[in-house]
Amino acid sequence: MSDNKKRLAVFCSGTGSNFKALFHAIIERELPAEIVLCLSNRAQCGAMDFAREYGIEAIHLSEKQFATHDEFALAMLDALRERQIDMILLAGYLRKIPDAVVAAYAEKIVNIHPALLPQFGGHGMYGMRVHEAVIASGETRSGATVHFVNEEYDKGRIIMQNHVPVLPGDTAETLAERVLRCEHRLYPAALEKLLAEQP
Ligand code: GRF
Repeated sequence: MSDNKKRLAVFCSGTGSNFKALFHAIIERELPAEIVLCLSNRAQCGAMDFAREYGIEAIHLSEKQFATHDEFALAMLDALRERQIDMILLAGYLRKIPDAVVAAYAEKIVNIHPALLPQFGGHGMYGMRVHEAVIASGETRSGATVHFVNEEYDKGRIIMQNHVPVLPGDTAETLAERVLRCEHRLYPAALEKLLAEQP
């Protein structure tokens, strides 16, 4: 049975709350998948600590460790291939995925974005900047989007979205908290859908 499980890598740069939500959902819902690798551009972060605590291999891979971008891309590809990774889930990973990796894992790399794409996405739109832009726009709805990763920031095909209200008096911080809670429900649901579609 375990042979049928998709081997997942989760890429993180920070707290890793989405990583934790995915990890617990896989166990609780008995999804046919296993997170076998946590990859981070940072030697230490909440996500890496969580991975180590739960016995998931955690590797630090940063472009700064390599002389060229191509060498970095190759090392990332090698790390994924050595571990026979089927699918990559980006969960707060703040670096662009090298084009060579995107090409090798076409429609196998998934990201979560804290807004309703195609709005409020693109280069530089991450963290509080997203929520500040939503509030400044006067939108009454925000939410989260799970989408495939292609060569352009936040432009890959949308897999699933869920929305939350923007309430009068919201700050970027209060909206961020509401959106993050929405993300923790959405990402596992999107993974479940993908696993059902790609048996
Ligand atoms: C989330 O808001 C996600 O949408 C964005 O980065 C944040 C990561 O948070 N890509 P966490 O590390 O999962 O807590």
